[in-house]
Amino acid sequence: MIDTHCHIYLEQFENDLSEVLYRASEVGVEQVLMPAINFDSLPKMDRLAHQQIEFHKMAGIHPTEINDGASTTEEELLEYCSQPDIIAVGETGLDYYWSSEYKEKQKESLRLHCKVAKALDKPIVLHNRESTDDLLDIIEEEQDGTLSGVWHCFNGSVEEGKRALDLGLYLGIGGVLTFKNAGVDETVAQLPIEKMILETDAPYLSPEPNRGKRNEPAFVKYTAEKLGEVLNSSFEEIDQVTSSNARHLFGLSL
Ligand code: NI
Repeated sequence: MIDTHCHIYLEQFENDLSEVLYRASEVGVEQVLMPAINFDSLPKMDRLAHQQIEFHKMAGIHPTEINDGASTTEEELLEYCSQPDIIAVGETGLDYYWSSEYKEKQKESLRLHCKVAKALDKPIVLHNRESTDDLLDIIEEEQDGTLSGVWHCFNGSVEEGKRALDLGLYLGIGGVLTFKNAGVDETVAQLPIEKMILETDAPYLSPEPNRGKRNEPAFVKYTAEKLGEVLNSSFEEIDQVTSSNARHLFGLSL
């Protein structure tokens, strides 16, 4: 399996990192993709190593960091993201949950990330919280046929999901799929698995049966199991198709 969105480099894993990675490897996680929160994330990612698990880095500035005053220039973001070991631009996106004061700044940052992603022909990783229309409007403006990416932690409606697919995005399916009454299962059942990839967003958004606890890459299996239930497919098929999708989107080797 490939955990396509995991903040394994954060301090929440400092004390038991080797146990966490052992459990991930035991359930069959072979690759872990790491979105940045800001540029300080990158040296932390560089410290990770494991015999059975491949780690891949992304570079970008999370929208909530923009609220806290973080910013980047086109030159700086280009420089980070052009490094050959950076597989994607992100995470970026919009988040209106905490505050609506920084909407314009977040939009500006998202546009910049889109521009760099297109210039470097690398996919973009999109965070979205209470900002779906604005997010998809910007992707529509920026989509010139060369932009690819993922709406990470997808929790939109069927219509919003279809609009994202039409815009060339994949849907990142995470622990929210397993939450009772969230309705993501019913939505996802109506969307094509050919455009879905699996993720944890660890340490956040832990799936059932570990909801509310720290999330970790091994828990991607609970989301894969649930997706199998929802789409009436076997675990193996879910793993095979979503992993192939992830390799295609992020240009990963086998
Ligand atoms: Ni994230």
